[in-house]
Amino acid sequence: MTDDLRPVPRHVAIILDGNGRWATARGLPRTAGHAAGEPALFDVVHGAIELGIEWLTVYVFSTENWSRPAEEVAFLMQFNEDLLLRRRDELNELGVRVIFIGERQDPRVSDRLRGHIADTEALTASNRTLNLVFAFNYGSRREIAGATRRIAERAAAGELDPAAVDADTVAAHLYLPEMPDPDLVIRSSGEQRISNFLLWQSAYAELTFPETLWPDFDRRSLAACVEEYRRRERRFGGVG
Ligand code: IPE
Ligand code: IPE
Ligand code: MG
Repeated sequence: MTDDLRPVPRHVAIILDGNGRWATARGLPRTAGHAAGEPALFDVVHGAIELGIEWLTVYVFSTENWSRPAEEVAFLMQFNEDLLLRRRDELNELGVRVIFIGERQDPRVSDRLRGHIADTEALTASNRTLNLVFAFNYGSRREIAGATRRIAERAAAGELDPAAVDADTVAAHLYLPEMPDPDLVIRSSGEQRISNFLLWQSAYAELTFPETLWPDFDRRSLAACVEEYRRRERRFGGVG
């Protein structure tokens, strides 16, 4: 802890968790919890803009989430598609640039959803108020394995000297090299784990685990996490 408040984080990354528990506690199907998470997400987007955060990454579907019941997976795919259609003009008007990271080429992702992702990215490409990154069909190990494969391919093709491969080389081969590392990672719902999210990028991120279930999360919850972050001392391996 320190008396000086550090600046607002440039990049906040959120593991949206607790939708299922929120619904179950109300006697509703788990999918109702996902639907209730949408207004929470959009309130947090407004909050991020108000706070002056430049990058907001949200983990909405992991490479492991395919193992959920087929009806829940189908709901989530349709939900993400509908959400883009319903919300993309609003995001565009807010000046939000939408970017997806993850395995969108996976054959389990429908062509229609892939199309909506590409359309939304194109529509919002020149916006600069907030970069909103959806980690969708995202898994950090998959991302790092893919980067490693491309580095190996380039080395085999003689485009890159294996002896020169370093951390910057790996970072440059991740999904979105221009994305700064997250300063703050938030996981809602009280679970305290990372679940294959931004493992490389979060090497020195501050972590917070608010108890709030995602559908109850809002811009004030975000502001509270940012406040806690601003009071923390980051050392990056030094002595402070
Ligand atoms: C997070 O909520 C949303 C996704 C993973 C898509 P969960 O669905 O994991 O909710 P809990 O953890 O079961 O409560
Ligand atoms: C992580 O949450 C994935 C997303 C929020 C999209 P999960 O709820 O799937 O993670 P575990 O299974 O509890 O670790
Ligand atoms: Mg969960």
